[in-house]
Amino acid sequence: MLMLGKTRRSRTLRMAGVAALMAGAAAVIGSANVAAQHSAPPPSDPAPQEEAAAEAEAGDDLPGAGADGPVSALDGVYTVAQADAGLEIYFGNCSACHAGNMRGSGFTPGLLGRRFIAKWDSAAELVAFMQSAMPPAAPGSLEPEQYMLIVAAVLRANNFPASETIQLQLDTLDQVVIELAQ
Ligand code: HEC
Repeated sequence: MLMLGKTRRSRTLRMAGVAALMAGAAAVIGSANVAAQHSAPPPSDPAPQEEAAAEAEAGDDLPGAGADGPVSALDGVYTVAQADAGLEIYFGNCSACHAGNMRGSGFTPGLLGRRFIAKWDSAAELVAFMQSAMPPAAPGSLEPEQYMLIVAAVLRANNFPASETIQLQLDTLDQVVIELAQ
């Protein structure tokens, strides 16, 4: 059995603290962030993201990872096209804070490494957190599909292998186990 959400309560409490911290931090780092955000593509032009999502879907009727029960991300649960599309969306919405290489910057944590991976039990849990909290100025402002594609990019950046035969799919994300390699 997957034990989903075991860290949700502490995460919620932590978020409350972090929100307060960020309010203070925003004043300090505000000017740096504004500069970083200005170099991002204008939010009024969603075309690149839509193209990327369409490309990821194009021609693939691959089965969803976990359609037949729990599957480990270590066994390959996303396609290269999904990770590529997710990275574009990441660059449009997340990299100003989390950095282009996902290592984080300033007050923003990185999305890489064993400590980060150990926080999530499933792809569904990671998508749920992103939807509920990211980007901080507009949580849930991306499509669920877009958060899912970002997760593909994050998995790839953490050296989880791609698959040629199965892909991430929204309705089976809870069956995709995120775990550390032994
Ligand atoms: C304005 C800066 C900013 C932007 C933009 C931003 N984040 Fe964050 N993000 C943060 C901060 C600060 C935290 C730490 C808060 C926390 O972990 O609860 C964080 C935490 C996270 C975490 C949890 C990290 C951990 O170790 O628990 C994830 C996952 C994440 N962000 C993903 C995203 C994604 C995906 C996007 C784009 C859709 C995004 N973030 C956009 C600032 C940002």
